[in-house]
Amino acid sequence: MSNCIAIDGPAASGKSTIAKRIAEKLNIAYINTGSLYRAVALAALRAGRDLASIDRGFLDTLQLEYAKDAAGGYELKLNGAFPGPALRTPEVAAGASLVATRPIVRDYLLDVQRGFAGERMVVMEGRDIGTVIFPDAAFKFFVTATPEERARRRLAQDGEAADGATLAEVAREIAARDKQDSERSVAPLKPAADAAVIDTTGLSIDEAVDTIIGRMTRQQ
Ligand code: C5P
Repeated sequence: MSNCIAIDGPAASGKSTIAKRIAEKLNIAYINTGSLYRAVALAALRAGRDLASIDRGFLDTLQLEYAKDAAGGYELKLNGAFPGPALRTPEVAAGASLVATRPIVRDYLLDVQRGFAGERMVVMEGRDIGTVIFPDAAFKFFVTATPEERARRRLAQDGEAADGATLAEVAREIAARDKQDSERSVAPLKPAADAAVIDTTGLSIDEAVDTIIGRMTRQQ
């Protein structure tokens, strides 16, 4: 069994905040795997590369590693630097979803993700952690919320929605990304058969975190 608490779910479901909080409470590492796909898209955009035809040669030019940031948590470094807010723009989010459809990209990033967990216990958050990266994870959760609730949350997050975007526009952007993530042929977004589905609509972050920790305690 892998030393991993897998937290998967669609865009803006609150899973990052929840996963981070669980890691803090349990005093273990937290890894956001969406950053990897975002970093590949960001690097390709910066290099003027066509996102739909990224090849192994391009991936091999990238240096991707998780390192502790000033706050003491693990953040992804791209070519030796923390990309910061550049990873969180709507263009990079859409580009991440596009590069994430490519098997060559997913294969490449699989090793980075498995390499990190190894011996230590980690909360790992993404789309395919419980289904592909760690199918034998110690605990698996699929965190979701209604599309309306997720659009509201995304709009409330600094810098994640385009300037001046309306709720309807944000809802459309999220729906397009979820569709692409769920319909791709490799590692599509879906709950693992043995994951607990947690609908956080109407739940506060604390309530969602308590629900998940409560389930893990009962499962042990
Ligand atoms: O979680 P985040 O919104 O940062 O992820 C950005 C994109 O990266 C997702 O829309 C998805 O296409 C891709 N992704 C993935 N598998 C993961 C994490 C993210 O395909 N484990």
